[in-house]
Amino acid sequence: MAAPKTLIAGNWKMNGLRADGVTLAKSVAAGAPAVVAKAELLMCPPATLISLVSNTLAEVLRQGLVSIGGQNCHPEASGAHTGDVSAPMLADLGCKYVIVGHSERRTNHSEDDPQVWQKAVAAQQAGLIPIICVGETEAERDRGEALNVVRRQITGSLPDAAKAGNVVIAYEPVWAIGTGKTPSLADIAEVHDAMRALLNEKMTDGDGVRLLYGGSVKPGNAAEILALANVNGALVGGASLKADDFLAIAAAA
Ligand code: 13P
Repeated sequence: MAAPKTLIAGNWKMNGLRADGVTLAKSVAAGAPAVVAKAELLMCPPATLISLVSNTLAEVLRQGLVSIGGQNCHPEASGAHTGDVSAPMLADLGCKYVIVGHSERRTNHSEDDPQVWQKAVAAQQAGLIPIICVGETEAERDRGEALNVVRRQITGSLPDAAKAGNVVIAYEPVWAIGTGKTPSLADIAEVHDAMRALLNEKMTDGDGVRLLYGGSVKPGNAAEILALANVNGALVGGASLKADDFLAIAAAA
């Protein structure tokens, strides 16, 4: 099977007022034609900006130059869940993807694997592609448990209906997020190879699932990380807030 197209996803997290969001989205869109042959570009703005970004980039989205995604969704489609956003609501705004199980949600909102599984299923039912985040803490890595943690999280959160085209997995070691620290290339390769092997045990087309690396990805380290055999893209936090850096990461693919 041919390697899946590289996905460079920007997780804006809780950043940006309307003017910032429009400026950033337009700058990324302006640079997209130069990198689109190398990578699919995805922006995941905060929920408050999705509609605005989606409307601002309507033509660019239609051309497939960039995609828009959410950062989280509720497991249910609608109901009495004050403050939450559902997968059909994100799809309605033009989203193609949604991040689920980010470590910041696991830590700050006590999300566990069964909840992440429910969210991933809800995303697929709404026609969205869930980007399921997994990754060990520093203490777990120090104890030699990184591979077991990642395997357990994938096993606990991968929807039964997962196919190559309807799910993405992002390996984000918790200790590498926003710290400037990254695992060695050998350590990233080891985890990604193990994830690939696990997906091939669970699915007939596991080779086609995109496996993203996330955690302090910058223009300076993107090329070597993206060159690893089982790394099919990046989930970028801080560097996705600067269009030039985000586009440089995509250009490094
Ligand atoms: P940083 O790129 O800022 O380390 O964040 C990574 C991340 O959490 C993306 O989801």
